[in-house]
Parts: sequence; structure tokens; C-alpha cells
Amino acid sequence: MPPRESGLPRLLLFPGSLRRDAYQRRLIEYFLTLIGDRCEPDMLVADLPLFDQDLEQDAGVIERVAALHRRCVAADGFIVASPEYNGHVSPYVKNTVDWVSRLARVDARFADARPFRGKPLLLACASTGWTGGLLGLRDARTLFGYLGCLVQADQICVSDAAHWASEGPFRFEPAFADHIASTLLDFCRLAAALKTRDSDNGSFA
Ligand SMILES: Cc1cc2nc3c(=O)[nH]c(=O)nc-3n(C[C@H](O)[C@H](O)[C@H](O)COP(=O)(O)O)c2cc1C
Repeated sequence: MPPRESGLPRLLLFPGSLRRDAYQRRLIEYFLTLIGDRCEPDMLVADLPLFDQDLEQDAGVIERVAALHRRCVAADGFIVASPEYNGHVSPYVKNTVDWVSRLARVDARFADARPFRGKPLLLACASTGWTGGLLGLRDARTLFGYLGCLVQADQICVSDAAHWASEGPFRFEPAFADHIASTLLDFCRLAAALKTRDSDNGSFA
């Protein structure tokens, strides 16, 4: 985890696809060009097996889950870009969240830590279809709401991703680029305000 120096909100950025050329990762990289100086970004790539309760006895796996859990606890907010798979969040996102959420039950040292509760979360999706992953984000909204995140009403849905990222990085028409930028800046402002409030009052989570 990088040292905390700036006073800016630390945002955990989670591209929810492991694919080498994933649109989700490229979308998060596009976001970073807009808000990289407004936050302390922490880009998440999780390397965890498919969840299996038997693996809760595997010290090596639990060590990796604990490292991830600490990064979630240290985060002041989350930006999750999940692909839509058959109308749902990606199994990679769900699997990662399932592991992190279980740690409190596996290791008593993590019982009181709240990796998600009370933290703002912005959802995004880049989809090759026409809907921009709306259905998948509804599923993600349910999942992260269940965990206690403050899931923002605003979200960023990119449809026809191949068109907007045909040369590699995303490039958008100006009106949509403005919408993305204002959504991200609002989110950074919110994360900063909640961080200040929580450090003044102690976290309410
Ligand atoms: C198993 C599977 C299911 C998919 N289901 C949907 C879907 O429901 N809606 C949609 O818009 N795209 C769907 N897609 C297409 C994805 O939008 C596309 O593969 C996208 O590139 C995935 O994101 P990534 O580039 O970040 O990996 C699906 C793709 C896969 C592999």
C-alpha cells in the first residue's frame, strides 16, 4: 500500500475484468487522467482462487485476502468498473468481495474492521453492447449496498466500448466526456468531505 501523504482521499480502483485488454481497466485508466491529482489512487488486481470455504484453512490464501482487506480498510472510497455478464456483475468482482467479506469470520483480528461500510462507491461499466451494462450495475448496486457502501446514484455506463476505444485508450465525444468528468469530480469531492468528517468525528461505520 503506498504511504499516505497528500491528505487526498484514497480511492481503491477496481477494474472488474482480468482480461489483458479489458475495457474496464482502460476505463479506469481514463478516469485516472481526470482525477489522478484529486485522490490517492490504489489500483486493485486481485489474485484469489474461486471462493471455497475449505480454503479458509489455507494460510497462504488467507494472507493474500488479508492484504486485500487492509487495502479496502485503508480506502476512503471505491470506484468499481464491472463488465456485465448475462445481466450481472462479473464473477471476479463477486469472488473478490466474497473473500474480503469473509475475513472477519476467519481471523478474529479483522472482526471489527469495516472494509466497506459507510464508504462511498461509484459504479461504472464499459460494455460492447448497447445498454452500457445497466443491468450488471443494478446487480453491483445490490451487492455493494448489501456490504454497506454508500453506492452513488450517479454511475458511468459506456456502451459500444469498441467504438470509443478503437485505438486503445478511451476517447469520448465532448458532451459525454464532460458528463464523466463532472461525475468523477463530484465523487472525489464527496470522498474528500466524508474523509474529513470521519477524521474529525471518528468513523461512524
Ligand atoms: C460471459 C459473458 C457474458 C456477457 N454478457 C453481456 C451482457 O449481459 N451485456 C453486455 O452488454 N455485454 C455482455 N458481454 C460482453 C461484454 O460487454 C464484453 O465482453 C466486454 O468486453 C467485457 O469487459 P472487459 O473488456 O472489461 O473484459 C458478455 C461477455 C461475456 C464473456
